[in-house]
Amino acid sequence: MVKPIKITTLDAPTEPFKKALFPINPFFHFRAPNAEEFIEKIKSIPREPQNEKFLWGTRSKCDKYLCEDIEEWIPFWRDNLKFMTEGLSKEGSLKCAFQYRPYQPWINWYSRDNFQEMHDHNEHDLVGVFFAEIPQDEGASKFYFEDRTFPMISAPWRYMLGLGSAFFPKIESGDIIFFPGHMLHGVSPHESDEVRITMSANFDLKVEGEYLP
Ligand SMILES: [Fe+2]
Repeated sequence: MVKPIKITTLDAPTEPFKKALFPINPFFHFRAPNAEEFIEKIKSIPREPQNEKFLWGTRSKCDKYLCEDIEEWIPFWRDNLKFMTEGLSKEGSLKCAFQYRPYQPWINWYSRDNFQEMHDHNEHDLVGVFFAEIPQDEGASKFYFEDRTFPMISAPWRYMLGLGSAFFPKIESGDIIFFPGHMLHGVSPHESDEVRITMSANFDLKVEGEYLP
């Protein structure tokens, strides 16, 4: 039996003077434990775009390839989901066991002037992005998160608290990021001649019956 989700509380001894409530935008960023093999596997796929297979992305510009043989790719994702789950468990952030259902991943290639508009994956619970080749030169595109609640806070508060609506994680080749499907994200325009390569995947989650101790 799944117990009810507990009400969010703040722990008095560690409370900062400025408190922030309802942290529903978590993300998990680490170097993939299988980075080298994962990169090699992705780079073994020739750039033969299948953009017509995607019903989304009409306002983005990059080449995409759908990895239809899901079994071929799942072991690469499984290792990283395991690493994420263990990390969460170790620090006490994971409150219950879960199962995940993977969907077909896809590869993205970005050449000069390519980009991906801000979007979410709200039809799924969890999104993973593996960064296979991330050029580091000045104009290279950057992955970012956008805060969908930002328009709700007034301009004076934005200045007073120094708040911004976008966050750009520092990403290198071999990194991976997982985040919930509701989180808005995008890729800024690629002003570089080095090709940027990523793989994305969606997962649905199912909470198992018992909470972890
Ligand atoms: Fe995305």
